[in-house]
This record gives sequence, structure tokens and C-alpha cells, in this order.
Amino acid sequence: MEIDREALINRMGGEEAVSKMDHEARADAVEDFMADKLDKEILARRAKKKYPTVAEIEEQIETRDFRRGVGKLFRATPKRLGFDDELTGVKVNRLPPMPERPTLADFFELRFNPAGHLLQSARLAKKRGDSEPVILACLLHDIGNSLIRVDHGYWGAQLTEPYVSEEATFAIRYHQALRFYADPSVNYEYPKRYYELFGEDYVPPPYIKAAYEHARNHKWYMSARKVTMNDLYAFDPSEDVSIDEFRDIIGRHFKQPKEGLGYDNTPVSHMWRSMIKPDSPL
Ligand SMILES: [Fe+2]
Ligand SMILES: [Fe+2]
Repeated sequence: MEIDREALINRMGGEEAVSKMDHEARADAVEDFMADKLDKEILARRAKKKYPTVAEIEEQIETRDFRRGVGKLFRATPKRLGFDDELTGVKVNRLPPMPERPTLADFFELRFNPAGHLLQSARLAKKRGDSEPVILACLLHDIGNSLIRVDHGYWGAQLTEPYVSEEATFAIRYHQALRFYADPSVNYEYPKRYYELFGEDYVPPPYIKAAYEHARNHKWYMSARKVTMNDLYAFDPSEDVSIDEFRDIIGRHFKQPKEGLGYDNTPVSHMWRSMIKPDSPL
């Protein structure tokens, strides 16, 4: 690897700073400089690389020690990098205990944190003047990912169904199918990120196509479509949104059970409990 001497000296704080450094500090600085340069070159090469095919993605299955569909709470992922399908050797963290009667906001703070994607999507919905059920659906649209990622729209809709309006449940469930289908009337395009995630030649399976066709003709089509429109594929790490911004909307549109989520004896309580204690062996 070639070293640009001037760039290196500048990076080290200029000629004068370098002259005051001892031999070891200089060696460390050169190593850092070269490591960064290498990373930049790898990223540039990746950016030029063509998208994988479905067959290439299938080939990767046996290279992982996890399955891609597993919930985010159940495996380690490097935060905020967006490369969460790569093997990293990162370990899971110890989760903080949850209160006896957990609320939705507690899940955001103690289990989904930082939940930047959900919070930024909901903020975007708010900025665009979408209705409160749509803002709530944006806030919750990928909530199923913490438990299980495959078919996350269906899991998310099921998790929230006892607590939110039918419209919000519909929007959460069908955003999964709609995101694969463009709608030029609202400038929604197929997300480029999916070429990377699913393969450039990916064709959604028949049940997704059928779900799309059902949703397309439904009275709440636009509510589900808006979730896909506020779904951000490029996250802004500088925008740190707090759940506090949505406490009023949650208060008006999410029926918080008095026993706490997980302990209210609904058909989905065990699913919330699984997120309360994902380290339980059985
Ligand atoms: Fe989603
Ligand atoms: Fe999303």
C-alpha cells in the first residue's frame, strides 16, 4: 500500500507535532493511518461491486452461525452500521431488567433501543402531516424484527393487534408486501437496498404478491403505503429521536394493558414475554 506522506503528516497534526512524538507514537499513528486507508479501499471496492444474485445469497447460508430470519434481540448485531447481515464475532450484551408492568415505551427504551429506524420513520410521518394511526403504524412497523425477522410484517401486526386500531394493524401487516411494489402515483420505488439484501434477481413469492394485490384494493391501502413511504433505507445517525416525542400519540392510540405488556393474558402475551427475557433457556 502506498503512503501519501503529506496526508500522513497532516493526520498526525503537522510537522511540528510529529517532531515531538516518540518512536512508538509515530509507529502507532502510521499503523492507524494505514488501517483506515485499507478500510476505505475495501468500502470503495464494495460500492463498485455488483449486487449479489439470489443463488449467491443462498450460498452464504452455511457460512453463518445464525439464520437471517432470527430476531434482533437473539443475536449480536453491530449497532448503526447497516451491515447487520455480516459475521462480526460481536457478542450479545446483558439486557437491563424490565419493570413488573412494562409499557410500550419501556420496550422501546429497554429492548429496542436505540430503535433509530422506527423513531425516524415515525418522525418523518409526523413531519409529512400523516394521521396519528399512520404515525403509530410507522413507529411500530418493524417491531416484529426484535422477535423474528422473517415475515416481520405479519409478526409485527400480530404483536400489536390487541392494542391498536384495525387500520394500524393493517398498515403494519401489509407494508411487508407493499415495499416490493412501486407506486409511481406517490413516487415510491423499489428500494435499492433490496438488491443487496434479497439478490438482484429476487422475485417476491406468490403469497406476497397475493397480499400486495389484496392491499392494493383495500380501503386502507394508503395507510400501509405511507408506512413504506416513511420507511427509511438510509439512516441518519446524527438524528437521535426519543420515544418521548410519541408518548402523546401512544397514549391516544395504544391500549396499554394495566397488567403490563406480556402479563395481560392475550393470545400474544407470550410473544412480549419472549422479548422481556430472551436469555431464558426454555
Ligand atoms: Fe419493514
Ligand atoms: Fe422499516
